[in-house]
Amino acid sequence: MNNFELLKEKLNSLGISHKLIEIHSDKLDVDSHVAELGIKYREGMSTLLFKLKGESYLALLRRDDRNINSKALKKYLGSGDFTFCSEEDLRKLNIEPGLASPLILNDSQKGYKVRVLVDSAVLEMSKVICGSASSKHALEINKEDLLKNIGEYEIAEVTEPNPRRQDNNLLLTVPDDRQETQNLEPATRNSLTRKRILTGDRPTGPLHLGHYLGSIKNRAELQDEYDLFYLIADVQALTDNYDNPEKVRDNIYQVAQDNIACGVDPEKTTILIQSMIPEIAELTVYFMNLVTHNEILRNPTVKTEIKDKSFGDSVPFGFVAYPISQAADILFCRSDLVPVGIDQAPMVELAREIGKRFNRTYKSEIFHNVQAKFGIERNLVGTDGDSKMSKSKGNTINLIDDEETVRQKVKKMYTDPNRVRPTDPGKVEGNPVFIYHDYFNPNIEEVNDLKERYLKGQVGDVEVKEKLAIAINKFLDPIRERRKLYPMDKVKEIVMEGTEKARKEAQETMKMVKEAMKINYF
Ligand code: TRP
Repeated sequence: MNNFELLKEKLNSLGISHKLIEIHSDKLDVDSHVAELGIKYREGMSTLLFKLKGESYLALLRRDDRNINSKALKKYLGSGDFTFCSEEDLRKLNIEPGLASPLILNDSQKGYKVRVLVDSAVLEMSKVICGSASSKHALEINKEDLLKNIGEYEIAEVTEPNPRRQDNNLLLTVPDDRQETQNLEPATRNSLTRKRILTGDRPTGPLHLGHYLGSIKNRAELQDEYDLFYLIADVQALTDNYDNPEKVRDNIYQVAQDNIACGVDPEKTTILIQSMIPEIAELTVYFMNLVTHNEILRNPTVKTEIKDKSFGDSVPFGFVAYPISQAADILFCRSDLVPVGIDQAPMVELAREIGKRFNRTYKSEIFHNVQAKFGIERNLVGTDGDSKMSKSKGNTINLIDDEETVRQKVKKMYTDPNRVRPTDPGKVEGNPVFIYHDYFNPNIEEVNDLKERYLKGQVGDVEVKEKLAIAINKFLDPIRERRKLYPMDKVKEIVMEGTEKARKEAQETMKMVKEAMKINYF
């Protein structure tokens, strides 16, 4: 019998009056439920599961207009040693992620007793809408009936009002499970309701427009929906710059600042330095066994890069193997999604494959089925007409470039090589100047007019470029403004803090990995 059936049987056999309300969306988070059911936050109640020290578990029943007050909870428990249950933990308790029902916590689990803590605000409820152990239903029950039937429980005041869930104006409420979980240590973040993003850049120079369109834009847009981890890939940058560590070092905070300036919100994002998470290196070593030699040699991105970088016969082995290390980057925080430029597709594919092989080989479910999310469908052309804007090719417009630099770079841009005079009809398609106009000039009328005249030989490159420089500068202006708010010393603080948080996640993953591999000797 599954938990939902178990619940129904319990309700019916004990004659408890209740309602099962149908839910049609497959979302599992509170905000979606409240919206769909048209109820008030203070009528909803969640069952939050924690792992305490040792193998003991706690269910906290919390009214949905309240946040956990982690200090108060710590005080009540007499220890800060509590984390949200991982999916593995929940499996032990026979609870499906996101589908706990307060009424069957101790009816279905195998061998573990779940301690039940009722937050005092729950006592003020009359009707309670809570989990039914099925994603298709919510359970409505009155508070007295609920408390009579959950078995032994404790009461404590361990929550505080959640400012975003005080009224029911859904237009003002932002999906919000993050709020609550961010007050807790990162390792205790609620992995049940929020999926994760892991993404990153190599710190080898300032980031450019190609990065913006390929990945940064997506990062900024997805950060409200996901927990975002942004990794500064210094270890990877060293695979082809091992003899130039200063270059890498000098760009660590640069890439972080570039992302922040583009709207990646440091309040919502964990920014980390790869080399400071030794667990990533550790994972890499174990992952190496799950990939074949041939697979690595076949990796198309590595192949192209080897050509581009003209290593000759001296390709560092670390460079060839970096996709494995990137898989460890991606998987260390058990991520679900990777926003990257399209050239990185084979990397994410390998990460997904390694995760699957790990899970299969060691009978675990640690790693998720990680997906890539691409920005524009092909790389942005360089200012020189090369198929890819790339710092190593010197054909970039950087996000940090000032107005004059942008103007100069645009002025020198490659256009239609067959066009000698402004009166010659020109080519628009594939012409980098027009590709940039399409991406960065929001004035469609102007762009169409320029294209028309260009085709007919009625406009010079100078005008097309001047208008493009203006458009790109306009696009960059808000990024420049935001950058001013985050000077490097502030960025550095953000990165240090993020790295510390990420380390905890990595340690948690490593612990599970070692358990699964049976190399947890102590
Ligand atoms: N290889 C990526 C690039 O060159 C950078 C990177 C390293 C990355 N680790 C990552 C990207 C993990 C996404 C996820 O741009």
